[in-house]
Amino acid sequence: MASKLQYITFYNGQKMPIVGLGTWQSSTGDVGKAVDAALAAGYRHIDTAYAYRNEKEIGDVLKQWFDSGKLKREDVFIVTKLPMMGNRASAVEKYIKLSLSALQLDCVDLYLVHNPVGMQDVEQGRYPRGPDGKVMLDMDTDHVAIWKAMEAQVDAGRTRSIGLSNFNARQIKRVWESARIKPTNLQVEMHAYFQQRELRAFCRALDITICAWGPLGTPHIYSFVEKQGGDVSKMPRYDLLGDPVVKGIAQKHGRTTAQVLLRFLMQLEVAVIPKSVSPTRVRENFKVFDFELSPEDMEALEALDKGRKGRLGSEHSLPGIGKHPEFPWFERY
Ligand SMILES: NC(=O)c1ccc[n+]([C@@H]2O[C@H](COP(=O)([O-])OP(=O)(O)OC[C@H]3O[C@@H](n4cnc5c(N)ncnc54)[C@H](OP(=O)(O)O)[C@@H]3O)[C@@H](O)[C@H]2O)c1
Repeated sequence: MASKLQYITFYNGQKMPIVGLGTWQSSTGDVGKAVDAALAAGYRHIDTAYAYRNEKEIGDVLKQWFDSGKLKREDVFIVTKLPMMGNRASAVEKYIKLSLSALQLDCVDLYLVHNPVGMQDVEQGRYPRGPDGKVMLDMDTDHVAIWKAMEAQVDAGRTRSIGLSNFNARQIKRVWESARIKPTNLQVEMHAYFQQRELRAFCRALDITICAWGPLGTPHIYSFVEKQGGDVSKMPRYDLLGDPVVKGIAQKHGRTTAQVLLRFLMQLEVAVIPKSVSPTRVRENFKVFDFELSPEDMEALEALDKGRKGRLGSEHSLPGIGKHPEFPWFERY
């Protein structure tokens, strides 16, 4: 089994490498080195977003690899995302073109609607703020109309597949029912403390694959929320990488806790995109193909689930975001 877990396969036959490099909060100056270390270690999947403001440096490194002949474009799976400020049908083409231009690509492999919440597009890609410090929302977000514009990007050859991120089951179903080109993938927070069993089953029934963000428990989310003026005091404080059960399983296999947490999700057929800017950790996070967690290990990890209390992404992350009618996380799943 260990060797079989190389890809997850979309309903359209496209294969997404099951381990990718995450790049949220990987800043300019660091992200290029991380991508270079990842490609050298064997990663063939990079996850970025317009909102991460690092696509240009990622594109520079990809270009070096393609120009040197070490990699061909089709060898690597690139994911980027429509920002919240672009959540309207008329802005989709503009934002995918901006991402493609920064990444120096003609086409990405997967383009995701980053979040169901729409924001005003006043500062070209930054989270816009009102005088009260709250994010400036666009209350008229229409997912069906946005999805039609997403489909047009597949038709135009700018992306091979389209998908969703941070949508809840109700929102996914609405898009799915209206879609001519169905979503292939949902990217959501998922880790041993927040296993999202109901959402996983819901997506399986619609043939939508899952990619977990925060697979290590997103330990750097607290610094992000602080920087954005969100309310960290309202968030639970977790240390998933230091969990004693995970540590015990890691010791038994001679692995690190990060490797166990990644392998756990892979064995649930969930893709993982651990973020690191440390080349050593980037390599560590890819050494997950040559061991296997036993049914007892899986059971012990499954028992760590805290249900909705395990979620770290919340209305406290960005001031005011919870006021949007499409804020996804007040519903059960
Ligand atoms: N769609 C969305 O809304 C959304 C939201 C969040 C994230 N994402 C995507 O998902 C990716 C992963 O999620 P995430 O960045 O939130 O969290 P994560 O991958 O769970 O955790 C990343 C954090 O763990 C540290 N780390 C990485 N490898 C480690 C290791 N082997 N041992 C100890 N610490 C380690 C990193 O620090 P160092 O860098 O210092 O190593 C970083 O602080 C993101 O980067 C992004 O691409 C998407």
